Amino acid sequence: MEKAYFITGTDTNVGKTWATLALMHYVKQQGKTVIGMKPVAAGCELQDGQLKNDDALLLQTHASMPVAYELINPYAYLHPVSPHIAGIHNPVNVDRVGDALHILQSLTDIVLVEGVGGWYAPINDQQAVSDLAQALALPVIIVVAIRLGCINHARLTYQAIHASGLPCAGWLANCTDPDMLNREENIATITRLLDTPLLGVLPYQEAMDVDFLAGQIVLG
Ligand SMILES: Nc1ncnc2c1ncn2[C@@H]1O[C@H](COP(=O)(O)OP(=O)(O)OP(=O)(O)O)[C@@H](O)[C@H]1O
Ligand SMILES: [Mg+2]
Repeated sequence: MEKAYFITGTDTNVGKTWATLALMHYVKQQGKTVIGMKPVAAGCELQDGQLKNDDALLLQTHASMPVAYELINPYAYLHPVSPHIAGIHNPVNVDRVGDALHILQSLTDIVLVEGVGGWYAPINDQQAVSDLAQALALPVIIVVAIRLGCINHARLTYQAIHASGLPCAGWLANCTDPDMLNREENIATITRLLDTPLLGVLPYQEAMDVDFLAGQIVLG
């Protein structure tokens, strides 16, 4: 296992947070400590005078130790819109995210960084998620929502990561659609077409059982 990973997905709402939580519990099952980070989050509510995002709060709850919210989520935007729009008056600075990551790395064995949207989602006027991952220089894990169109999205995302020059540590098949036809064939096809290992198949769950999901993962 590496000391940190960047978790991206084929789109928004594909299961990056569920997968990150499952990976966090996998790391704990390996006897290591872990912190999940959501550096950029759009869609927050005021809690105790501070803007907080549901994904970041979940990651904070599942960390191996108490961690200050600002370190897990340095950029918390009120409205659920693209970060380059939501953050017009407080744009993402990737160096500041790097500083928070390094502090988290001093506290724990492993840090898992959840991206925002997909690989080319803009995070400010000039940069995309891909630039953030490059600045952090992390190996990438792709979460693929297994639904119609997923083969195309998985291939595009993998190619874009490859073009960014970052290593891809593997991909997770996340079964978000209970009615998906030929699910196994789709997973087999993506496995054949991507030059990166399948790390696990996360089944569809009515309610998240994160330890069960963690049991479906193998991360070398
Ligand atoms: N394995 C699963 N089984 C059933 N439902 C799932 C599964 N994974 C994700 N979902 C559903 O999809 C929703 C989106 O998942 P999640 O929040 O993890 O996506 P995301 O990629 O992190 O989204 P965002 O781009 O907002 O961060 C969840 O709230 C849940 O309802
Ligand atoms: Mg999320």
